[in-house]
Order: sequence, then C-alpha cells, then structure tokens
Amino acid sequence: MKTLLSISFALLLAAGPLAAQDAAVSAEEQAILAEEARLEAEEAASAAPMNDPTAPNPAPAHPELRPVLDQFGGEAGLTKLMDTFMAGLIADPRTGPFFANSDQVRVKRQLVEQFCVILGGDCTYTGRDMKSSHRDMQIGRGDFNALVEVLQVAMNEHDVPFAAQNKLLAKLAPMHREIVNK
Ligand code: HEM
Repeated sequence: MKTLLSISFALLLAAGPLAAQDAAVSAEEQAILAEEARLEAEEAASAAPMNDPTAPNPAPAHPELRPVLDQFGGEAGLTKLMDTFMAGLIADPRTGPFFANSDQVRVKRQLVEQFCVILGGDCTYTGRDMKSSHRDMQIGRGDFNALVEVLQVAMNEHDVPFAAQNKLLAKLAPMHREIVNK
C-alpha cells in the first residue's frame, strides 16, 4: 500500500508540471487563434467597403480601342507615360498634396493596368474600384479637371496623337461620378 501510494504520488508529481505545461501551451495557442480571428475580422471589415460591389467596373474593356493602345506605345508606352504623369501630379500644387503620401509606385502600376484594360489590351486590373479608392479624399471637380490637365500635358510630352488622347479621356471622364466627392 505504501509503495502504491508513493508510486501514485510520484506519478502525480511527474504529471503535475506536464499538465500545467499543456494548459499553458493551449492558453497560448488560444490567444494566438483569438488574435488571428480578430485580425481576420478586422481585414474583412476594412476590405468590404474598400471594394464596393455597387461601384461601376473601374476598368471596362474596350476591345475596339486596341489600335489606340498601340498609339500609346502599348503597355510599355503606358508605363513610361505614367512616370511623367505621376511626376506632374506631384509637381502640380493642385494635385501634389493628394499624392504626397500615397504609394506612388503602386498607383502608377494600377493606372497602367487600368488604362491598358480600358484600351483593349491584354492586361488585368488588380486595383480597387474608383469609389472605394478615392472615398477618403475630398476631391472636387476642380481637382478632377487638374488631374486631367496634368494627364494631357504628359500625353503631349509622349507624342500621343490628339485623337488617341481624346479616346482615352472619353472613357475616363464619366468616372468623375465615383471620384468627385466634395
Ligand atoms: C479619371 C480620373 C482618375 C482615375 C482614372 C484614377 C485612377 C486611380 C487608380 C486606378 C488608383 C489606384 C486604385 C487602388 O488603390 O487600387 C487611384 C488612386 C489614387 N487616386 Fe485616382 N484616379 C482619378 C482621379 C483622381 C483625382 C482627381 C485625384 C485627386 C486629385 C486622385 C487621387 C488619387 C490618389 C491620392 C490615389 C492613391 C490612393 C492611395 O494611396 O490609397 N485620383 N486612382
């Protein structure tokens, strides 16, 4: 009996810290899981309004404009154009403040994709819709016109024919409904 008691006592001693350790690990795991769930919920909450399912397609494809894309020099031409465009947007006091804190490399890439798809190119637009991506800014009609002006200067600098410029601008102009929010 004495031996049995001491064996079970020894077992208890051995099991005790182990069980405590197990409990500690699972509490830690639970905390990690809870944190993961919290982050996922936060992401879902912020992702939902950032891509508004009611917003119009930000990059409607116009296969008939494919020849216009060639006049822009294709996707490579758009990439060069966007460098000039973004430099102009930053330099212009009317648009500069909007773009100062943005990830300019990302925005340029999204613009290349967007314009490329609109002009019937074999590209994919991976950015957000126009309503969501501009909703945190106070953009007035004057700001919109200023951006278009800067784009026109950039297109002229890249020798994009006037008619081709207008074909693109005609597709961008209606987007003021989602972008101008002041
Ligand atoms: C037809 C006109 C416009 C078009 C096609 C356009 C297009 C875009 C696109 C494709 C993006 C990236 C979307 C994304 O984040 O996934 C973007 C972002 C942005 N746009 Fe516009 N935009 C226009 C007008 C304007 C105007 C008028 C302003 C302000 C004067 C403006 C300021 C910005 C800024 C600051 C960002 C970056 C936002 C950020 O960093 O999250 N945009 N725009």
